[in-house]
Amino acid sequence: MRGGATLSVAVAINGQARRADVPAEMTLLEALRSVWNLTGAKSGCDAGDCGACTVLVDGMPVNSCLMLAVQADGREVVTIEGLAGFGHLDRLQAAFHLASAFQCGFCAPGMIIASKALLDSHPAPNEGQVREALAGNLCRCTGYAKMVDTLVEIGREAGKGEAS
Ligand code: FES
Ligand code: FES
Repeated sequence: MRGGATLSVAVAINGQARRADVPAEMTLLEALRSVWNLTGAKSGCDAGDCGACTVLVDGMPVNSCLMLAVQADGREVVTIEGLAGFGHLDRLQAAFHLASAFQCGFCAPGMIIASKALLDSHPAPNEGQVREALAGNLCRCTGYAKMVDTLVEIGREAGKGEAS
C-alpha cells in the first residue's frame, strides 16, 4: 500500500480532459490502467525494456512505465484506445490486422503507437527507419517481418499519393 503524498494531475487523454489525485510515485502506466481504466497499454517489464507500455505524450513515443503520472500534468497523452473511432480500426490497426502482423498481440498496442509516431514524423519511412523506430518494442512471437513490411508498404502508398 502506498503511503506517500497525493498530487493532482490534469491530462488530456485521447482528446478528453481527465483529472485525478494520484500518489506521487505512481507511474503514468499505472494511472492509465488503474485510475483511468485504459488497459490497452501493457505492463511487460516495468523497466523500460519492452515497449509494451508505449503511449504518445505530446506526440512523442514514451515508455509510460518510466514516466510518473504527475509528469504528464498539462500534457496530451494518446493511448491505443485513442486510435480506433466509432467502432472502426484506424488505418494502422487495419493494415496490421490485414497482414496478420501479430500472433499473441501482447506487443501490439505499444508497437502500433510506436508505428504511429514514426508515420506522423516520417510518412514514407524506409526499412531502416522502420526498424530503428521499432527497436525499443519487443515481440516474442514474430520475426517483425510483417510489421516492417506493412509500415514500408504504407509509406510506399503515401509516397504514391504525394506523387500523383
Ligand atoms: Fe514499459 Fe516494458 S512495460 S518498457
Ligand atoms: Fe506476441 Fe508480439 S505478437 S509478443
